[in-house]
Amino acid sequence: MKKSNVDINALIDSMTLKEKVGQLVQFTSHFFIKSNESLTGPAEQMGVAPEDLYTVGSVIGFSEAKDMIGIQDKHLKEDPHKIPLMFMMDVIHGYRTIYPILLGLCGSFDPELVKECSRMAAKEASASGVQVTFTPMVDYVRDIRWGRVMESCGEDPYLASIMGAAQVEAIQGGDISSPEHLAACVKHFAAYGGAEAGRDYNTVDASERALREYYFPAYKACVDAGVKMLMPSFNSLNGVPSTANKWLMQNVLRDEWGFDGLVISDWGAVHELCIHGVAENHRQASEMAFSNGCHIDMMAGAYYHNLEKLVKDGKISEEAINDAVRRVLELKKELGLFEDPYHNASPEKENSLALCDAHRAIALRAAEESSVLLKNDGVLPFSTDHKKIALIGPFAQAKEIIGPWSCHGKSEESTTVEEGVKNLLPNSDIISVTACSFIWNDTDTSGFEEAINAAKNADAVILCLGEPENYSGEGNCRTDPSLPGVQSKLANQIAKVNKNTAALIFSGRPLVLTDINDSVPAIMQMWFPGTEGGSAAANLLFGKANPCGKVVMSFPKSVGQCPIYYNHYSTGRPKKAKYENEYKPFRSNYIDCGNLPLYSFGHGLSYSNFVYESLTLDKDTFKEGEELTVSVTIYNDSEYAGKEVVQLYLQDLVASAARPVQSLIAFEKVEFAPHERKVVTFKIVEPMLRFYDAYCNFISEEGKFTVSCGRADALLHTTEFTLKK
Ligand code: GLC
Repeated sequence: MKKSNVDINALIDSMTLKEKVGQLVQFTSHFFIKSNESLTGPAEQMGVAPEDLYTVGSVIGFSEAKDMIGIQDKHLKEDPHKIPLMFMMDVIHGYRTIYPILLGLCGSFDPELVKECSRMAAKEASASGVQVTFTPMVDYVRDIRWGRVMESCGEDPYLASIMGAAQVEAIQGGDISSPEHLAACVKHFAAYGGAEAGRDYNTVDASERALREYYFPAYKACVDAGVKMLMPSFNSLNGVPSTANKWLMQNVLRDEWGFDGLVISDWGAVHELCIHGVAENHRQASEMAFSNGCHIDMMAGAYYHNLEKLVKDGKISEEAINDAVRRVLELKKELGLFEDPYHNASPEKENSLALCDAHRAIALRAAEESSVLLKNDGVLPFSTDHKKIALIGPFAQAKEIIGPWSCHGKSEESTTVEEGVKNLLPNSDIISVTACSFIWNDTDTSGFEEAINAAKNADAVILCLGEPENYSGEGNCRTDPSLPGVQSKLANQIAKVNKNTAALIFSGRPLVLTDINDSVPAIMQMWFPGTEGGSAAANLLFGKANPCGKVVMSFPKSVGQCPIYYNHYSTGRPKKAKYENEYKPFRSNYIDCGNLPLYSFGHGLSYSNFVYESLTLDKDTFKEGEELTVSVTIYNDSEYAGKEVVQLYLQDLVASAARPVQSLIAFEKVEFAPHERKVVTFKIVEPMLRFYDAYCNFISEEGKFTVSCGRADALLHTTEFTLKK
């Protein structure tokens, strides 16, 4: 696109202080739509004077292109400087065509697929008037009780870094003024996923070393990928709320990482500094947040009422205001808004893209490649010759499978499991029985009898179980993240009457599946798979698609194990995996539960049978500047073509600070024909061995390492090598 020649400095010089402050304020579109009728409702409650509304710089949320265009047109008529509004929204896993939640999609271990989904979402969103999306969310997570694990990229910093950067690159493209791209905003900086007890917005205490080793890498990867904006997190980090945390926002983000973009608060987070108890009032909160690098106040109304006075009182300099305003105006300029305030949005484009066949096809492939075959005692894939199929459980006919944060996606546009199976097997007799609810405290089993009868008479049974969409997502945390209500009881009774049974699990988090794991012969984790979830489920169950998704967040045996993650330290008294089901006194273990998760990071079965035959190194010692070549030989000992995520894990055996027992350092997704053998090679170089020592120096140390393939809790061909300094 042609570069804009707007003179930002001249524009700033022509603005009053009030108008400059306005560029640092974000309100919802309701303020603007409401203003048609003398500004009633939220704007009035926030004390926004009608005559000030033209000064506001950006808008969050709106329903369609027509709305955005209407608000923009009205604004440009009122603003003497003709500065266009910037429109922002949470386009997390799709705009209208919804793909799987990121906790599932990252399990595809396919950055190109993640990019394809992100590009699709950006295209649909841009056509509808979105110019900035509050994505990617790359908060590191270890606790399934937290509702927002569903948005995250899981428990591995390396994978989360790759997936976060992939989203930034795809959403922004090379030119955000392009009608197919948006500006991205990485969030929530920092360590929001470390909330104590898995309770949203709760306190986070983490050592600097833990932050740098686990929590920071993915945010930094997004900064290095050129993300235009960043959002601090609601939580306090080591006692200081991120929104006003100088160490985070200045020392790390700007001085160390060189981030030179825009920072926007989370919704009302400037106000919440008073609730955290670090600010007495909005004036103090505004001074703290702005002085520590938060440029835009989203929906607190604090900057609107206080920044101008803080400048006049000499608490904040006008050049600091000018700097922040310049960043806002530069982003608008880079988006091309001064030339095209609609960023090429139109109702016609919006309608032509939404749910188009090409986008539904992307959503289907994403749902197929995100789903994880957790267990299969040989019952899957089901035969397509089955004549009688029973779908049993609250998700059998459920449309609500697109998940939280689905932007303008509509559940009614999704394909249900029943529809998917009927489309695939038009000549089979499909019977659906809901049998029970998915409400956590529901004890009603009156629907079981009908379900059991249906199961008895079926050739195959598909249990459709899970937690409802509103049991995960923001603010939706659970102390007992198992299958809600009586679903486990139902599953166990059904599995007794028909051995040809498989369970689909719909959820925004890994659920505790221990109660059904032994009785149900096959379990497929669907996450919230999005618009094409039902078709993906049918294709996977009947072998039209071969499962290849992997777990990126551990499935605990018990919630009592949380936080649980694969890349943990050894401790001085580790429990040997061979004693998993035995309590060992004076070891780091539990009396009533093993240490290992039910399903570990990297786990995921296929209909193929991938045999890891060998792992070899081209040398067993290497130095800085050299590289070590690792060759992994895999054979597909099956009749099924399939994809395998070949994972490479490293252990640093001795270092000046404790190191994880395993760390994913590389992966490659490889396709195999039936009975095909392939050699997959990886290069190890010294920077991959670096870590933060006890003093947070990022270094590598001479010594012994091991490298393994397989998955985190089933490592294969562990081989030693030495790094020489
Ligand atoms: C929410 C979320 C944040 C989102 C913002 C705007 O509270 O924490 O992720 O981007 O508000 O909707």
